[in-house]
Amino acid sequence: MVQPRDVHKPLLFEIAWEVANKVGGIYTVLKSKAPVTCHEYGDRYTMIGPLSYKTAPLEVETLEPDTPSLRLTLESMKERGVKFLYGRWLIEGAPKVLLFDTGSVYHKLDEWKGDLWEVAGIPSPPNDHETNEAILFGYLVAWFLGENVTALYNNNTNNNNNIVFHFSVASSIPNGTQKTQKHENAPITDIKGIERVFVTHETKPAVIAHFHEWLAGVGIALCRKRHIDVTTIFTTHAISRAATHCCDVFTTVSHITAYEAEHLLKRKPDGVLPNGLNVVKFSAMHEFQNLHAVSKDRIHDFVRGHFYGHYDFDLDNTLYFFTAGRYEYRNKGLDMFVESLHRLNEKLKAIGSTTTVVAFVITPAETHSFTVETLKGQAVVKQLKETVHDISKRMETRLFEKAARGGDVSQTEFLTQADQVLLKRRTFALKRSTLPPIVTHNMANDDADPVLNQLRRVGLFNHPSDRVKIVFHPEFLNSNNPLFGLDYEEFVRGCHLGVFPSYYEPWGYTPAECTVMGVPSITTNLSGFGCFMDDNIVDSSEYGIYIVDRRMKSVEESIQQLADQMLMFCQKTRRQRINQRNRTERLSDLLDWKRMGLEYIKARQLALRRAYPDSFDDDYFGLDEATQQQLQLQEQRPKIPNPRSAPGSPRIRTPLEGVDTELTFIKMSASDRERYLQYSMQGHDDEDGLFPGD
Ligand code: UDP
Ligand code: G6P
Repeated sequence: MVQPRDVHKPLLFEIAWEVANKVGGIYTVLKSKAPVTCHEYGDRYTMIGPLSYKTAPLEVETLEPDTPSLRLTLESMKERGVKFLYGRWLIEGAPKVLLFDTGSVYHKLDEWKGDLWEVAGIPSPPNDHETNEAILFGYLVAWFLGENVTALYNNNTNNNNNIVFHFSVASSIPNGTQKTQKHENAPITDIKGIERVFVTHETKPAVIAHFHEWLAGVGIALCRKRHIDVTTIFTTHAISRAATHCCDVFTTVSHITAYEAEHLLKRKPDGVLPNGLNVVKFSAMHEFQNLHAVSKDRIHDFVRGHFYGHYDFDLDNTLYFFTAGRYEYRNKGLDMFVESLHRLNEKLKAIGSTTTVVAFVITPAETHSFTVETLKGQAVVKQLKETVHDISKRMETRLFEKAARGGDVSQTEFLTQADQVLLKRRTFALKRSTLPPIVTHNMANDDADPVLNQLRRVGLFNHPSDRVKIVFHPEFLNSNNPLFGLDYEEFVRGCHLGVFPSYYEPWGYTPAECTVMGVPSITTNLSGFGCFMDDNIVDSSEYGIYIVDRRMKSVEESIQQLADQMLMFCQKTRRQRINQRNRTERLSDLLDWKRMGLEYIKARQLALRRAYPDSFDDDYFGLDEATQQQLQLQEQRPKIPNPRSAPGSPRIRTPLEGVDTELTFIKMSASDRERYLQYSMQGHDDEDGLFPGD
């Protein structure tokens, strides 16, 4: 029999391979969502991930386990050789994290593989590193959850069996039905017919375990097979079969993945949990425009150095395009990007354009550090800058002295012989016999690298006649980067257009991140983000979100469409670009976790209701059909219309009413919605209060 649980204050574990361990977009989901989830759950929230000895010490501050059940569980696991790190992840929200060292249980691998086959019928290929890690991690998580709920539910040290008074106001739901909490043996005293007081044994908190992605998915199958008293949610960002069928609630990050899951995995997802972002609202409305100008100047510095000797183009008439993400040549549409850049180059030349496009490709590949040529470029331009600075200082002194003595300033020797020689030496150093490199690093597999090979094929070599120049930076950016000295976010702000022509992209954070920074982007209708924008906006290109059709068009047509979109962008005036950035940035509300978080809350509600149906004191699902339809109608809102003013759009800080972020079938009770709105609105206006304990 299912025990009643306290479903109003559940514990939440969120389990993913990218907790405090950056690989790609799931790290961004977890990190950016932490503030809203911590705000809602406080210390009842813990994330579980793998322990990476390289990054964890930089990301996590160690803590002592802070509840008896946690102490008991971790103590027992430690005695049996499991190594872990428990602490606070040093990010906004400061969530608690538990990181398990899969290496410490490696000797168990064969035993667990056999068990997985026996209990869940899941085969594991030999010598597959990722699968091995997923199995070790999954078994550790299930081990932890199993012992933790046992300790939690059987432990008498935590006031758990005390008799308590439980006050409850019966919920007033739209059709007037009033239901009260169902506790057998609990005496009920009516107060004014509505409020009732229960005297009951305190129910223990329900536990929600929310797993992300297949690497964490083994744990779900084990929770189910071992009947661990938790309710499970599985969010797939791509596709994973076993976990999909074993979880209580199954969700995906986009309709694209939902469709895929339904057809490939034969389970229709219970809902879609789109990925959000932490949207920073600046007090000055145009601050993000200023930041663009500041970061763009830094990129200018890089470009002067990289193209030394061939720096014959006007930076004031140069546009920065970029693509970024994991190095998946076809899935990320790197192939289409390079081909379309080649077409754009030809088109710009054909129309005699004077605009230069510098296109950056930021994607990690195996390298042996920066090339000497790349570093030299930055060094010679830096030296020139310093020399010019020193010479102008000396000129300033001479001019001042002459003028102060009332002398004839026109007779001042501005540039001394010695300085002229110095300057000549510096400019000679800028001469080079080769073209500026298309890649910044020494590649481990230069001959086989698909991006380099395609650049060679289409002949994009940074020739002076090319209007499109290429910089392939095969490493993610951070502020210690000697070339840019910018972290990724600053770099994005300084660019004009992000180009992400993905062929397979369950969600796609990169264009979403551009949007909240007010940077226009190109995405496709095969990416979750692209479909989300298309679903919510009448014409997203009006807001600087261009969508390439990779679903209905041939490859050739899509390449052409992308090249045309980029060409159109090159033909905008500065004024038009500024206006467009304003419109793009206005879409950030749509992607804010304050809205997107609602879908997670619904999923958790559904998981609790499925696992502990008798623990609820209202029954939203029990509403009659007419009322449900009425509520559904209220939730169906029109798409975002085109901007009111065209072309010059003044900044109108209206909330994006009419946005359909509630994509799912899961309906919230009126009281849950109320609770969510209360906390989400409070948390937004002031930056304080997001850290537990503030
Ligand atoms: N990213 C980064 N540094 C870089 C380039 C990219 O941190 O130099 C991050 C970017 O901010 C984004 C993630 O990498 O959050 C890529 O996520 P996306 O969803 O686009 O792709 P995924 O890796 O999940 O396939
Ligand atoms: C921002 C700055 C302006 C600057 C503009 C350049 O809007 O606030 O001062 O002129 O960026 O825009 P662009 O698209 O040419 O980089």
